[in-house]
Amino acid sequence: MDLSIQQELAPENIYGIIGEDGIARLIAAFYRQVATDDILRPMYPEEDLAPAEMRLREFLVFRFGGPQRYIAQRGHPRLRMRHAPFPIDQQARDRWVALMENALQQQAFPAEVTTALRTFFHEVATFLINRPAS
Ligand code: HEM
Repeated sequence: MDLSIQQELAPENIYGIIGEDGIARLIAAFYRQVATDDILRPMYPEEDLAPAEMRLREFLVFRFGGPQRYIAQRGHPRLRMRHAPFPIDQQARDRWVALMENALQQQAFPAEVTTALRTFFHEVATFLINRPAS
């Protein structure tokens, strides 16, 4: 009897596989690209991207099943509300996802982790669209 059910890894299990270090490397690779991106860079209110990089990293550590430092420091994520000031249309969403895809390709994560991360990022990014296409 074939008991293998093709089930995707839940986000909560990702930290246990790639750890603090894997998440840090992924997000560093993402922010290296944001620094020169014509759509995304102008949206960041601060000159220095390091604090924004830390917030995303800490959020993902929490969301992927690691320590809850993000909650202690920032409270409930409220991602839709926190992104409301930034004009996220389909194009901005697609750019964010494209940079994250590049960052993912630079890591050597196990295939099931990459698949789970991809699904998660695509879904959350779509959920954060808050402007019609211009
Ligand atoms: C869809 C395209 C997206 C755009 C254009 C965008 C843009 C931004 C900007 C400009 C900020 C403010 C930077 C800062 O913290 O100072 C921010 C914060 C943040 N973003 Fe995004 N973002 C996008 C998608 C996502 C996705 C998919 C996630 C999660 C998987 C995410 C998670 C966060 C978090 C956790 C913060 C910090 C919230 C806080 O604690 O204040 N973002 N984003």
